[in-house]
Amino acid sequence: MKKYIRKGSVVILDFGGQYAHLIGRRVRECGAFSEILPPETPAILLKGAAGIILSGGPQSVYDRGAPQGDRKIFELGIPVLGICYGLQWMAKILGGEVKAGKTKEYGRTQIKNLECKMQNVPEEFTVWMSHGDEVVKVPEGFVQAATSDACANAAIADEKRKFYGVQFHPEVTHTEYGTQILKNFVGLCDAAPWSVQSFHQEIREQVRKDAGTYNVFMLVSGGVDSTVAFALLNEVLGQDHVQGLLIDIGLMRKGEIREVQDAFKKVGMTNLHVEDASDEFFSALKDIYDPEEKRKIIGKAFLNVQHRVCVKKLARKTKNWLLGQGTIYPDTIETGGTAHADHIKTHHNRIPEIQSMIDRGEVIEPLKDLYKDEVRRLGEELGLPHELVWRHPFPGPGLAVRILCVPEDSHVMVRKRGLGMTKHVILPIKSVGVQGDSRTYKHAIVLFSDSKLPAEEHWNLATEIPNKYPNINRVLFCLSHTEPLEFVLTPGYVTRERADLLRTADNIIDEEMRAADLYEKIWQFPVVLLPVGIKTGGESIVLRPVESTEAMTANAARLPEAMLHHIAEELLALPGIDAVFYDLTSKPPATIEWE
Ligand code: XMP
Repeated sequence: MKKYIRKGSVVILDFGGQYAHLIGRRVRECGAFSEILPPETPAILLKGAAGIILSGGPQSVYDRGAPQGDRKIFELGIPVLGICYGLQWMAKILGGEVKAGKTKEYGRTQIKNLECKMQNVPEEFTVWMSHGDEVVKVPEGFVQAATSDACANAAIADEKRKFYGVQFHPEVTHTEYGTQILKNFVGLCDAAPWSVQSFHQEIREQVRKDAGTYNVFMLVSGGVDSTVAFALLNEVLGQDHVQGLLIDIGLMRKGEIREVQDAFKKVGMTNLHVEDASDEFFSALKDIYDPEEKRKIIGKAFLNVQHRVCVKKLARKTKNWLLGQGTIYPDTIETGGTAHADHIKTHHNRIPEIQSMIDRGEVIEPLKDLYKDEVRRLGEELGLPHELVWRHPFPGPGLAVRILCVPEDSHVMVRKRGLGMTKHVILPIKSVGVQGDSRTYKHAIVLFSDSKLPAEEHWNLATEIPNKYPNINRVLFCLSHTEPLEFVLTPGYVTRERADLLRTADNIIDEEMRAADLYEKIWQFPVVLLPVGIKTGGESIVLRPVESTEAMTANAARLPEAMLHHIAEELLALPGIDAVFYDLTSKPPATIEWE
């Protein structure tokens, strides 16, 4: 547990929802530093906080083992905002009553802002609800502030003590005036002003302190985070004390290594060593198909290569070294970094070997308190090229988590199955998703239509199907065929040939996006290779463009029809590609990556 918090920050006690980082991100947009801590954090530790936000969570406050906070936080004399579970927990602790609601409210709901208690927002507006329980009796001192058809206490307030609660989620973009509501709350807190620019200076001092007399050995992946972290370490410690290693794992995007090298040279950094270890990575991944296993193997292979290069080639330069990593703030939540969020994916920066190094104080992570867009702004301040800093996020394990694999004994013919709706097939391939707060590993369904273009009906089905059918977490639309096909599954692993094929497809998409001026409007556009074709050995491509802030939730991006047609044609012309699918699923229930 953390021993101190930053004075004047707004602390978010994370009761286990997936949205804690969204709240954190929005608070920073309001100009205050935010920190996410476990719900049981003792009140005494929160003494210097400017305000406390109690997050949502998947449980009912009456469940056995439901997360509990320290009730003394209500005696600290600072503003508190409870959101969903946070509101219910606060109401219960302060003497109110919570019960299972008559109707569960999920999705968009209209609320009435009673007597305009919520400032700077209209009398009626739309919010995002996701709850079964509700507050049926408000605690003493509180009044009802907003109401919806299904929930009398959609918002409550005790203006005197500055305690507020909302049943809806102001942090998600579906809530109109959500940012305004958080801004109102942050405005009541006596928060220390915060900005990336002011934090830059602080990070510099922290890096100096953490590095001490050590040199830093930094793995640069080609992604935004490690690139910015490397540039920052160079700026603070100087080139003689930092050594960068870019390991070519054979699973990067086309031209990526050259682009990164050129960018660093442009700003005068020449301390980046490139090591081609692709053979080693492909042989370590031989016969592996489980997504988590892949990540662990890649994490270990990174360490092996780094150790070899460090010890053998750069020993003199990097004696007494620390390991630098580009880990950013949200990288920890999906690894169970917050106590009550279920495990979704292991981040390759948090495999057990790295964790032990962190525990021994051998790792330096200068960006670990920043969100992605803050990292990007810092990168620009450091003089890195705009195009490099605004590149789409790319997972550390690279294309490995976009090349789906199936073991040798999986020669399964796909059956058309009747779910009593539009033309479809269920693929035997499973992919990772997140439902409630848990990781899922379920099938994808493919929808077909005569026009080979998704209509409103298909977008609606993308929401409805995963809700209705418990074995499905992803809904695809087929851009290459009009009728359900007898798809054939071919066993396959992460090989150089498959990586080359995917790299070519990925590059086609990249160029199309830039030509259509869509690159910076889309958060990320994974292109995924599935070992599913029309004949044995055939493969398919999945397009997964998403719009997002911080990747905690995402919506599938709607691409122009002409572009979809064109991309499908180009991809089908690649040797070995039999079909092209468009992933229409949001996160949740699917994750952004397929693995
Ligand atoms: P998901 O798929 O969980 O992804 O919705 C959220 C964000 O994390 C990235 N991602 C990773 N990044 N190592 C990384 O460095 C990983 O193992 C990893 N897995 C997912 C993903 O690209 C998205 O931006």
